[in-house]
Amino acid sequence: MTQEEQTLGRDDANTVVRLTAVSKRYSDSAAAALDAVSLEVHRGEVFGIIGRSGAGKSTLIRLLNALEQPSEGQVEIDGIDLAGLSPAELRTLRKRIGMIFQNFGLLSSRTVAGNVAFPLELTAATRAERTAKVAALLNRVGLSDFADRYPAQLSGGQKQRVGIARALATDPDILLCDEATSALDPETTRSVLGLLRELNRELGLTIVLITHEMDVVKTVCDRVAVLDHGQLVETGTVADIFQSGSHPATRRMLAALSL
Ligand SMILES: Nc1ncnc2c1ncn2[C@@H]1O[C@H](COP(=O)(O)OP(=O)(O)O)[C@@H](O)[C@H]1O
Ligand SMILES: [Mg+2]
Repeated sequence: MTQEEQTLGRDDANTVVRLTAVSKRYSDSAAAALDAVSLEVHRGEVFGIIGRSGAGKSTLIRLLNALEQPSEGQVEIDGIDLAGLSPAELRTLRKRIGMIFQNFGLLSSRTVAGNVAFPLELTAATRAERTAKVAALLNRVGLSDFADRYPAQLSGGQKQRVGIARALATDPDILLCDEATSALDPETTRSVLGLLRELNRELGLTIVLITHEMDVVKTVCDRVAVLDHGQLVETGTVADIFQSGSHPATRRMLAALSL
């Protein structure tokens, strides 16, 4: 293989996220929150990262939108090393990456429509464009009738739908979900995961979903990586991991599923 072919191979259009030997230490004395993690997320897939509390999941997801910097290794989005980006380039990149959270992260003083409009206020969109966009997004997540409500007047599932609409406001091609259904009951969880799956299929949205629940992985993911004490111990299709996942951390989470 020539060097040019190697470069082309590395920038495979199918790979949207690539971590290469990424480690993260929050201080010199602390144990590594992430320890030499390498993984690839393919365009258009729902990629799960599962691990128990403290495994390093949130750290990993914060590295993907450069809220944290790796201590070692490389984080690339579409073949671009995040470490080399200027503040302006970083702002452009972050518009391509939406994020939703366990606690929704809504502004309590703003209406549903005001929350969804928020990211658009930082763009060049006109008022009329913003209004139309917000209406389309609320329609997409099934909340057209809730535009003028405040977050405190919504159920958990409705709040997360607002979070999803807001995350999609800048038309991202990657959606990061950090325990996005962990505060929801099982039925609401299924409904929110169903919405994520629809958005994945209809928009070609790549989803990186972090969870401590195998049930979530089983419901919505194409592939999954198991994180344990900062190390990536197993990666495969959901079917592979469920049938033949062998690492003790994987077995433990599968056992919790069948309780
Ligand atoms: N901002 C931070 N400062 C110092 N240590 C942190 C910080 N964030 C996380 N950690 C530590 O890093 C490890 C992994 O945490 P985290 O990524 O939040 O795991 P998870 O999301 O899987 O629960 C834990 O030991 C945690 O205490
Ligand atoms: Mg976390």
